Order: sequence, then structure tokens, then C-alpha cells
Amino acid sequence: MARATSLFHWLSALLLLTLALSAGTAQANGRERLSLDAGWLFHAGDVKTPPIKGHGASYHQAKAGGAAGAASPEFDDSGWRRLDLPHDWAIENPLDRNENASQGYRARGFGWYRRYLQLPESDRGRHIELQFDGIATHSTVWVNGIAVNRNFSGYNGRAIDITPYVRYGEDVNSIAVRVDAEAQEGWWYEGAGIYRHAWLVKRDSLHIATDGLHANPVQRNGRWLLPVEVQVQNTGEALRDAVVELRVTGPDGAAVAQGSARVRVAALDNATAKLELAVQAPKLWSPSSPHLYQVKATLHQAGNGPVREIDATSLKTGFRTLRFDADKGFFLNGEAMKLHGVCIHQDHAGVGVAVPTAIWEFRLRRLKEMGVNAVRFSHNAVAPEVMDLTDRLGLLVMNENRNFNASPDYIAQLEWLVRRDRNRPSVFLWSIFNEEPLQGSEQGREIARRMVAAVKKLDPTRPVTGGMHDGIFAERNASQVMDVVGINYQAGGYDRYHREHPNRAVTSTEDTAAYMTRGEWKSDRKAQVLGSYDDEPSSWGQTHRDGWRRIGERPFIAGSFVWSGFDYHGEPTPFEWPSASTFFGAIDLCGFPKAAFYIRQAHWVKDRTIIKVLPHWNWAGSEGKPVKVMVASNAPRVRLLLNGQAVGERDVDRYDMVSFDVPFAAGKLEAVALDGTRELGRDAVETSGEPTRLVLTPDRQALAGDGRDALPVTVSAVDAQGRPVPTTDLHVKFEVTGAGSLIGVGNGDPNSHESSKAPERALFNGLAQVILQSRRDGKGPLTLRASAPGVQAAELVLDVQAAAQVPAVAAVEAVNRVSGWRISPPKAERPDPNQVLAENDMNSWGWGDPPIKQVADANAWRAYRASMRLRADRNDGRGRLVFGEITGQAEIWVDGVKIGEKMSPAAAPLTVPLAAGSGWRTLTVLVRAQPGQPSGLTGRVWMEAAPR
Ligand code: GAL
Repeated sequence: MARATSLFHWLSALLLLTLALSAGTAQANGRERLSLDAGWLFHAGDVKTPPIKGHGASYHQAKAGGAAGAASPEFDDSGWRRLDLPHDWAIENPLDRNENASQGYRARGFGWYRRYLQLPESDRGRHIELQFDGIATHSTVWVNGIAVNRNFSGYNGRAIDITPYVRYGEDVNSIAVRVDAEAQEGWWYEGAGIYRHAWLVKRDSLHIATDGLHANPVQRNGRWLLPVEVQVQNTGEALRDAVVELRVTGPDGAAVAQGSARVRVAALDNATAKLELAVQAPKLWSPSSPHLYQVKATLHQAGNGPVREIDATSLKTGFRTLRFDADKGFFLNGEAMKLHGVCIHQDHAGVGVAVPTAIWEFRLRRLKEMGVNAVRFSHNAVAPEVMDLTDRLGLLVMNENRNFNASPDYIAQLEWLVRRDRNRPSVFLWSIFNEEPLQGSEQGREIARRMVAAVKKLDPTRPVTGGMHDGIFAERNASQVMDVVGINYQAGGYDRYHREHPNRAVTSTEDTAAYMTRGEWKSDRKAQVLGSYDDEPSSWGQTHRDGWRRIGERPFIAGSFVWSGFDYHGEPTPFEWPSASTFFGAIDLCGFPKAAFYIRQAHWVKDRTIIKVLPHWNWAGSEGKPVKVMVASNAPRVRLLLNGQAVGERDVDRYDMVSFDVPFAAGKLEAVALDGTRELGRDAVETSGEPTRLVLTPDRQALAGDGRDALPVTVSAVDAQGRPVPTTDLHVKFEVTGAGSLIGVGNGDPNSHESSKAPERALFNGLAQVILQSRRDGKGPLTLRASAPGVQAAELVLDVQAAAQVPAVAAVEAVNRVSGWRISPPKAERPDPNQVLAENDMNSWGWGDPPIKQVADANAWRAYRASMRLRADRNDGRGRLVFGEITGQAEIWVDGVKIGEKMSPAAAPLTVPLAAGSGWRTLTVLVRAQPGQPSGLTGRVWMEAAPR
């Protein structure tokens, strides 16, 4: 459906384009996506600006560029901490019982970030966009003292066109971000700060809009089609024409389809190129074979001359069909697939919500190992790189929006999410809410109806759901306007709902909510410890075994979304202090499996034998007493051997597993999975002695030296025979040297109050975790040494390999610019440098910031005045004042004293020493033009402190 364009239009467009080019505004640099993660300055806490009083200050702060306090480009941030993003300041804070249990007892509060950068002259005319993938929670962003974005969710990214506000060349631009993490959007740990990546994206003024490439395959009459839309934006000054070229490549890199379309875009407008490609017999995407296709869109300048590429972007998509059936559940690619889902939050031990992508990959692989095929990112959008992983690794995603609200700010959050993720094969359901109190009301239904419509407008291909609870039975309720009825808990109501609404497709959106503490086998509520035999359901949920039975036995329920896949900080239900993280996970905060992990494996894994004998076999002092042994297995039968002797054999209930009481005797307890007499696999636990040696087990052996790659290292201890000691709580200290650093530690104990950042940690039931990250431009060994009293230390040497670096914007130092100048009208006579300008006179003198070039005037003189203060002042204000260029003769006055002059009228720089002085000083410059010549402060003006 390429847009038809007449020859006349093409010619006129070409003419305009030529004009634009000759005006020197167009640029041919293509697209650059630069990391803005490094080199930020951070201040914990709010920065209070003194109350704004008086006409002058009030007037100034109300103007573009006049932001006061820490938002101002001139703010003195020289004492602030330097750090790189992603950054979660909450996880750095100690636990404090006066803080909110839900947020994990860590102070959040306010924080500020500042960053300086330069843009080369060659960027002038390009479209410059600042992108934040996520800031917790409310935030305001200023560029050069101009508020450019306010955002009210910690989970949505935003792309901010900062082209109008930036300066080029030598000039230094400032970005300031105020973060309000006092604001809460959830009842779980949300972290605080700029905890996802930040980017600076430079494109031609005619470019493909952010998230503007839309390519989501559909099957029509048995044929696979790829309808593509490319939204092209023009922030330049003239109407332009372009050609969008598309190329689709398959999993093997070979082209499978291509096409092109023309697009014409008026200045400061958008236009969408649309076309539809056919793809023959694509390889289908599924969790077991996640085949991805790349769609690349290239934007070419249209016209007679050589074809010039001006922008390009690409995405990954996949071919698959989705269907929910009211009786038979979910079908992927025409085949029934029970959803083995988990709900997860976005934090991890040691790093809080600032989770490196490689740690996310580790987490998602863990889930796949558990037999998970679907994830619900509860209850919010995750970082884009996590979605890349679900596409690539093969995990279906219930993509959930945070706020249930149909007002414009909130609809914009939902639209942002759908635009970002609507091409992804992993996304199979949109969820617009979770457990909203209004769900069973007229209001809830109305809000939902508007939100569903907003989703459908952008993506008519995927069903919409929401996490309901008993509202499903209300006469008017939100589920009535959704495609799939999502039920949180209410397991006792599944059948009633299906009976009363036999035509509605249903999935559990949340279930289970059972507790366990990893490695603990006896519940001790006083000690706030919960045992791991899966007999601790919450009052509203079920055990893992019962939860799955209820869903597994009901074909009309599409599947399960277990609360929760991993433990997370905060919500220490059923306890409060001193517990600070949850007990709900099938996997702990570090990614160490709990018993529930193996039970779910037994429930869900079909393609290999699962056999796991629980608990450990270290029960010294309990000799002869019965120990409950549970075997999690997907085999029909299990035999148990103690020191080689059969002590039991039973059929396995596919939901309940199988348990035995075995009198304890030290040695080896082994479970054998059987099918009739055929052995399918075995698993054993062995009694260990005291720990004698530490062991470090990395998730991988090498790291890419890009400053981003990270990996978890498991810390454990073994006895003299090399047997793991599952009960030890040795306190371990760490030392890291070489091409990387330790970025966090954890041990999965919900009651631990140890620091997430200090290089030490106690083992919890035999395990702890260290997270290591490579250094930018890192290469060579990265060594982790672990030591603990009374045992042999361990050393691990990882190989940090030279790697491509993510292109980045260099951080520059703040420049002590003198800004906010007042400019007198031209005078025939030399003005009085000490002339008083009334506070409330905003008009007899003008305003400006150098470079200022005045055209020739019959009157030769002008006075320029500004307030200046030396930042980072450790020398009583001594230093120098630098004028990049002054055109004309000049006198320099500070607080009524002449401190320098420029005799020659020619354009030239000038540097003047600054004597001691404190606080704000009044600078007045008198400039005298040569007759008939221009004059002024034609270069930047800044201050430099004297070296100490
Ligand atoms: C649900 C809620 C989850 C979590 C869970 C704990 O009500 O949706 O976010 O709080 O309970 O069981």
C-alpha cells in the first residue's frame, strides 16, 4: 500500500529539500544510539532550593532555562558522588524497621542526578533524543535548566526530544533529574533511582520515530503475512520525501521478504508508510523453538541524486498463532499448551532493581529449567532487554500494565507499553490490571473498557486480560470487556465461573502463594522460618501441589501463574520485621532453587526425567528418628535406598509427589526413578562432616569486557571428602581484583540484615552468591577470593575477554559558565559600570547568554551584567574569568572594581585573574564597538578556580 505521489509533488519536495540542504541544516550522519549510563553525579536526598522571593528571582525562575536549585545548569554539584547507571539507591541503604515492610524496610526518599555532555557542531540539525528506560518512581528531567519531562511511573520508558534545548560545540549541556521515590506504585520492593539504562539517540531530522516500526505477523487464509507500518517523523524545517525499505531475514540470516514504500512528511509532522509482505512457510516461534525473524527498516532520502540512507532501525519478531478456547484452554500454533506460568517481580539479591541483563538471562534460564513456559511480569512493564530475552529464550509473556486508570497520563503509559512490545512473539496476553478494588463495579468496567480499547487500537491481535478476583461474579465487572478472564486465587470458584459462563476463556492469572524458606525443613513461626515440605499455603492460596492439581485437572483453565517464581525484596508476608523479603518464591532471591522448584519441575517438565530427593541428609543427633523424605519426580514410581538398602518404594502421585518416613542414619540417601522395573534416573543426598574448604562456582567461565556483562558466583563449602555442607552458615569475606568488580551479594535468607553491597556474606543453609561485573574496556583475569575462619579459602579466576563496547556519550566536567546576562541598550557615551538596575525592571535592559553578537549601531557602547559564583570553591573565590571571545574594546568590573580590560577592538579572547571573594559577585562588562562594526561577548564566558 505504498503511498502514491505525483510527479509534481516530488519535484516541489525536491526543491524544498535542496533549499533545506543549502541552508546547512540537514545532516548525513545516520543513527547513533549512545549509552548515557556512565559519568553521573548523584545526591542522596532532596536538594531544597531557598524560597524564591523578590521580583528578579521570581521572574527568572519562570523562564525557559531559569530552573532554580539543583535543576539549574549552574548548580554547584562538585561534592556529589560519581556513579554509573543503572543505579538503585534503595538497595544500598541498610534495613530499618521504621521503613515500609512492603518496600523491604529500606529508605527510598528523594534523590538527584546530574550529567554533563557536549554535542559536536556536526550534530546541529539532527534530531537529538534523550531516553530513560525506567526511573523509580516519579521524576522530572531538566536539560539546560528547562523542564523537559515529568513522569509518574517507575516502570515506563520515555523518549524526550531535546533538540530545541541543546547547545553544540564547546558548550557543555547539563541534564538534571529529580527522583521522588517517596512515591509508591506497588506493595513490593520498587527500588529508587535511575535503575534502567539511559540513552542519547541522534538521528537525521527526518527519521523513524522511537518504537515507530511495527511488524507483527498474522495468518490469513492459511498464508503468513507481515503487515508493516513505519512511522516517520520530521523535526526539520521543510517538508521531505523519503523511501522506506524493508528487509526481512529469517533465523539463518537469509532474506525472506522485502519491499519499499514512499512517505512524505511535512515539517514537525509524522507520516506512516504501510506495506504488507508475504512470508512463505516461516519457522514458527514457540517456547521450545523460539525462531526469530529480523525486520529491518531503512529510510532513504528520496530525490534524483544518489540514494542516501538517513536512518535505519530493526526489530525481532516471530510467527505464531494464539487462541484461547473456553473449554480447552490455550493453543499455540494450533496445539494445546497448558500454561506453566510464574509471576515475578524485577529485583534480585545484591543489585535490587538494577539488574544486569546477564543476570536476567540467568534468572529466565532458571525458570525454563523449572519447566516454566510463561511469565507474568507482575505488575508492571520490565526493561526492554528483558523482553528481548523472553523472545530469544522462548517464554510467553503476560505483559502487565501498572496503573488502572483511563485518564490521559495513564493511557499514555499503557500505549507506550503496547507500542514498545507489540511486535514481540513472546507477548501473548496484555494484562491491564491486577486485583483492582473497582473490578466488580460499573466504574471498574468503564475504566477497563477504555483501556482495552486503547490496547486494541494499537494491537488488535492479542487478547487482553486482567487479574480479577471475586469481581468475576459481580453483575457488572471488568472481565466482561476483556477477552480472557484472568482469575487470581479463588480456586474454589473456578468451576462455578465456568458453569455460569461456559463461553468465556479463563486462565489463572495468579495462584498458589505458598511459603517456604530455602533449605529449612521445619516451620518455626517464632523464628520466622517456614519449612519446605510444601505444607505452608497462605490463607488465600494453595500449596504448590494442590494449586497445580486444581488447574491441571481443569482443561478449561488455560494454565497457572504461580505466585511467585522468585523471592523478592519486601512483602515479607506472613511476617514483618525482622523478615525483609518474601517467602513465596519457588526460587530464592539469589536464584537458588527451593523445594517448590523441584516439585514444579516434576509437574511441568515432560521431556526428561526429574528426580529430586528432599531434604538434605545432615541430621546428626537424630539417629534412628524418622525424617520425612519427599521425592519430587515425574516418574511413575520411586524407590528409596539408604546406604544401598531399599527403605521404601511407592507410586508417585503426579500432583502430590511421594513421601516416606525414614529413620535417620548417616550416609547416602538415594532416590531411584522407575517406570516398571526400568530405571529412569536417580538423585542422592549424603551426610557431610564439618566444612573444611570454600568452593566458588561461577555461572560461566568468561565475561565480556564491556562493563555490562555480569555473572553470579555460587559460594558454598565442602567437607574433607568434598561433600557439600548444606547446613553451614560460615561468614565469608570476598576480595576482587582485576578486570571487574563485585556489584552485590546475597544468600536468600529473608531474615538476613546483612548489606547487599559489602564484600562479605554469611552462607545461608550452605549457600551465598556474589555478583561480578566486568569493567568497561576490561580485559584479562578477574579474580574472586573467598575466605572464612577455620576453612581453606577459595580462589576463582574468570577470563574477561576484550569485547565491543556499547558506544557511549563521553562525560565531561561541569563548566562554570557565567549566564543569565542583562544587556544595556546601546549608548553614545561610556555607561557607568556601577549603574544600578532596579530589581523589578525587566525591560530597560535586555537579556541574553553569550555568544552575543550585536549588529553595528550608531551608539558604540553597551554594558553587559551577570551574577557569577565560583563552583567547587576551595580557594576563597580566587581563580580566573575567561572570555572565549570579545568583539570590541572592553572593561571588566567585578563588584564595582575594575579587574581587567581589552584594548584592541578586534575579536579576541581575554582572561582576567579573579581575586578572593565569596558568594555571588556582580560582573559588568563594558564593550565599545568600532564604528560600523559588530560587537559583543561573542564567545562563552566562564570561571575557573585557581589550582589548590
Ligand atoms: C496478590 C498480589 C501479589 C502478591 C500476592 C501475595 O494479591 O497480586 O502482588 O501481593 O498477593 O500472595
